[in-house]
Amino acid sequence: MDSILLTKKEFNDITALVYSTSGINLHEGKAELLKSKLAKRMRMTNKSLKDYLSFLYADERELIDFIDTVTTNHSFFFRENKSIEYIIEQFKLNPDKKKEFKIWCAACSTGDEPYSVAIQLEHLGLSFSILATDISHTVLETAARGIYRMDKLQNVPLQLLHRFFQKGSGKFKGQIKVKKEISKHIIFKKFNLISDSVPQILFDAILCRNVMIYFDFQTSEKVIHKLYQALVPKGYFAIGNAESLMNMKHSYTPVKKIPSLYIK
Ligand SMILES: C[S@@+](CC[C@H](N)C(=O)[O-])C[C@H]1O[C@@H](n2cnc3c(N)ncnc32)[C@H](O)[C@@H]1O
Repeated sequence: MDSILLTKKEFNDITALVYSTSGINLHEGKAELLKSKLAKRMRMTNKSLKDYLSFLYADERELIDFIDTVTTNHSFFFRENKSIEYIIEQFKLNPDKKKEFKIWCAACSTGDEPYSVAIQLEHLGLSFSILATDISHTVLETAARGIYRMDKLQNVPLQLLHRFFQKGSGKFKGQIKVKKEISKHIIFKKFNLISDSVPQILFDAILCRNVMIYFDFQTSEKVIHKLYQALVPKGYFAIGNAESLMNMKHSYTPVKKIPSLYIK
């Protein structure tokens, strides 16, 4: 069995640590998940519970790895693409043909989202750069590699698939790699939505999708306020389809007919 015994205090201390570091809210219902993930990390590091907890409290990288195991990094290409399509449509209408559009994917996971944006912009011949960030160095390493299983690309239109990806052979059979002409537009960087300050540059669009589902109301409110500061006037702000800004104090205006999309 993968489970371990955890006192109420140990549970509360760990969840408080995860919450203060990442904003992720692990309620009582997540106790079994938390215990099984703890057991797994203890095995991997060959430590007793007491030693593992001391390690967890002292080592930031281990803490982020642990947080990684209790959250989901699930993502895929062209996920919830309606808001992205809309943003790109508006970019196309911009009269300044030389403009370089700046986009920030603020919880990019394994890179599926920024690459999806990039191939659509490149296909239209628009000039752009993307900052893609996440709290987890593990997902960022995968993102920077740009190699994926074919099933993650099911929603990519064939024309774009052929143009911007390279099929793997030999040990990479069944996998596909994003071409350099796409990856050169993207910078992958670690960024914690809770504790890091927004970059000094302003973005034309920020995507912060399917991460606030793990945050509580107050944390989400702080995050959306923080990201507001990093948008140009009339810049776009996209959240996940399962997320909502309802009842939050904010200054964004919803975009009519495109759920989960807002404008500054
Ligand atoms: C489910 S994925 C969403 C990926 C992508 N945006 C999408 O919609 O498909 C959630 C990501 O949020 C990241 N995350 C969780 N807490 C974070 C934080 N405090 N700061 C930045 N990223 C965080 C996780 O590491 C994970 O990769």
